[in-house]
Amino acid sequence: MILKPFKRESIIPLPITFISTVSNDGIRNIAPYGCVMPVLRPLDLVCIATAKRRDTLYNIRQTGEFVINLAGTNLCDKVIPTARHSPPEADEFELACLEEKPSVVVKPPGIKGCYAWMECTLDKLFEEPRYILIMGKVVHLEIDDAVYCPDGSLDVERAKPLFMTGSNAAMHYCTVTDTGRSDSFGAMFPDRKDPLERMYRE
Ligand SMILES: Cc1cc2nc3c(=O)[nH]c(=O)nc-3n(C[C@H](O)[C@H](O)[C@H](O)COP(=O)(O)O)c2cc1C
Repeated sequence: MILKPFKRESIIPLPITFISTVSNDGIRNIAPYGCVMPVLRPLDLVCIATAKRRDTLYNIRQTGEFVINLAGTNLCDKVIPTARHSPPEADEFELACLEEKPSVVVKPPGIKGCYAWMECTLDKLFEEPRYILIMGKVVHLEIDDAVYCPDGSLDVERAKPLFMTGSNAAMHYCTVTDTGRSDSFGAMFPDRKDPLERMYRE
């Protein structure tokens, strides 16, 4: 089957994150974002692809701060309430009946009920005619103890991270499962040693 090139996003399951921001006037905003990617291992940068007309982008430009909230499948009924267009003066925590999790470093609050929170400051905007890439620097990273394994991995069976695939007419909500198999990072290198190993010692 040959697909139209733009359908590339339908065949990559995308994480559904919720980005929370506040305006300079203190209005709280939330929007779901799927085009979110950590930039290499082990940098502290996250790249987000955004359309230009987004209150999220406007708030990030104004304040330089945002939180990427990682959600489980339990929050899939919050996707549409936060994705629908709402006037910039509307408080989207109230609209979507979501509660704040106070942030540690940045002003925008996180969302209670998520399993992890990336508090970010704006590092750089890459502005293109049709899209903008927001480069965020993670300044505080927190995870619910209940979904963090002793080896430093995410317990996906417990967290049930919310993902989506796209059909021609809908977003299909899905999650990931652990195959039970793993390889060490070191296995990629001729000497079997991960050059970044030191950084992961807690
Ligand atoms: C599952 C999902 C993923 C989305 N991902 C993105 C994205 O990566 N980038 C983007 O610009 N818009 C994305 N959107 C659209 C925005 O969430 C939507 O336009 C929202 O109303 C923007 O809110 P804001 O104006 O308050 O920022 C997504 C929507 C959904 C439902």
